[in-house]
Amino acid sequence: MCGIFGYVGTRTAEPLLLEGLRTLEYRGYDSAGIYVPEYGAVKAVGPIDALAAKLTEPVPGTSGIAHTRWATHGEPTEANAHPHQDMSGGVWLVHNGIVENYQELRDGLKMQGVSFTSETDTEVLVKLIGTLYKGDIADAVTNALAQVRGAYGLAVMSPREPDRIVVARMGSPIVLGLGTDGNFVASDPSALLAHTKDVIYLDDGELAVITADSHAVRTISTAEQREKRPERIEWDVEAMKKDGFAHYMEKEIFEAPQVIENTLRGRLITEKGRAKLGGMESVLDELSRLNRLQLVGCGSAYYASEVGRYWLEEYAGLPVEVELASEYRYKRNLPDTKSALLAVSQSGETADTRACIQKAKEHDLTTLGVVNAVGSTIARETDAGVYNHAGPEIAVASTKAFISQLTVFALLTLLIGRSRDMTQADGQAIARALEELPGVLQSVLKQAPKLQQVAERYADYRDTIFIGRKFHTPIAHEGALKLKEVAYIHAEGYAGGELKHGPIAMLDEQFPVIAMAPQDDVYEKMVSNIAEVKARKAPVLAFVSEGDTEVAQLVDDVIELPRVHPLVQPIVSTVPLHLLAYYVGIAKGYDVDKPRNLAKSVTVE
Ligand code: F6R
Repeated sequence: MCGIFGYVGTRTAEPLLLEGLRTLEYRGYDSAGIYVPEYGAVKAVGPIDALAAKLTEPVPGTSGIAHTRWATHGEPTEANAHPHQDMSGGVWLVHNGIVENYQELRDGLKMQGVSFTSETDTEVLVKLIGTLYKGDIADAVTNALAQVRGAYGLAVMSPREPDRIVVARMGSPIVLGLGTDGNFVASDPSALLAHTKDVIYLDDGELAVITADSHAVRTISTAEQREKRPERIEWDVEAMKKDGFAHYMEKEIFEAPQVIENTLRGRLITEKGRAKLGGMESVLDELSRLNRLQLVGCGSAYYASEVGRYWLEEYAGLPVEVELASEYRYKRNLPDTKSALLAVSQSGETADTRACIQKAKEHDLTTLGVVNAVGSTIARETDAGVYNHAGPEIAVASTKAFISQLTVFALLTLLIGRSRDMTQADGQAIARALEELPGVLQSVLKQAPKLQQVAERYADYRDTIFIGRKFHTPIAHEGALKLKEVAYIHAEGYAGGELKHGPIAMLDEQFPVIAMAPQDDVYEKMVSNIAEVKARKAPVLAFVSEGDTEVAQLVDDVIELPRVHPLVQPIVSTVPLHLLAYYVGIAKGYDVDKPRNLAKSVTVE
């Protein structure tokens, strides 16, 4: 999604702005631009390198704002790229989000003689600020925002006040970075890491003015000063590097063992078969008395929640519902005060998932979060929650965060299960399986060369179906989602038992099936499903338990996976599926880290 970066201080701004934009590249974008009051604005369609190539002469000035745009309304053109300016060039703005009443504002401005060169809502916003600007840019922004409905994270400058940046937030993240030789602003804290770890997260309805050596936060509606204590980001700038891997996606898949260690650290009490989650302490009693739990998420976070549902029902005896966040937010919710809503989100900023939290609050439900990005909106808006501790995920396709989401669900299953009907022995078995998981995944990753060979053979098919049963049904969906995302192959995930209710009609020699067939309690059913597929001559790649000979005889390609506790099996099965998608994507020559049309965090609906 769009990214914002800004700096005001004593250093030359232009290289900092370009560098800031590069750290935001991973979020997905199609055009970029910078504005430096002493120089002016430069914009380009395409990569940051295209923008840098236009900056051939030294750019003077120690302040500026910058933006990466991911087109939603309006093509990715230079005209639509940010920064945008008002009529006189006296106000410049970068904006993430959507102004909902832009047509009404635009009509009003037109009557005042303001003309427009684009159809964008951002142009309306900056021109509105321009008409209200009387020498104090913070006041002009405040007065303009009083008329605006919608979501925004924005940064505004005026060449008449080059030493101030005004930022504001409503629904789209803005973080201040407090540096030693100046202050920064960004839409994503990871962009600040190279300069400072001391940050202030703006809340919705807040505006801040930053200068080289000061920052002041106030509410937009009442101009009341807010004293906000800086928070420290724990992530390291090293975590943002590729570490010799060809792509972030590859690095992040290979980080799986470490990620699991980090997610589990200090949270397992193996001898008692229990889990300890500090962020959930305040709601423990409530969790043990819940009638049901509602899980919401989007994309991979939704599939992780589906796995969580199977586990919580099977091992913890807790009824669970899972909804796509984009559906939950608009459907009728039947009030049930003995339920709680748990939102799952890597970024903690996904607009649909956030909307579910608001809706749950309106129904007086306790809201919980499973979030990776520390300090993100969902982490702050929920009543209690668990951090994934997976570290920054840069590749657009979620891999290590998905693995850590599953690990958190395993911990939640222990936590909730042991307060219900899970025995100590069952808890111990799960805890031990989790402890052994990092080592198990190391051995799975050793199969990468084999997976690459297999991937190359499957790269030329146009369509495929992933099948699984029970815990592996959502894993089949996750495998299909990854293949769609990074290899642009039409892939669907199905519960194996559903094949003969429709999709089997499509199968032939050109339509491979990828089958998840570990030796669990639905293994025999899966073997029958694979036989049905083979009878239609579809090529089959199967993921099986080590030493399995039954499936191997039936299928074309086999990948053997370690035998583990059935609860952790889906985690073991996911890593090779992520590798498969990665290798097919690179075999086809695609930019797997930044798939077309996708953005890392989807902060608009
Ligand atoms: C898939 C993927 C997306 C995200 C989804 C939710 O690889 O990355 O499907 O899982 O957009 O994002 P978060 O978890 O940030 O809410």
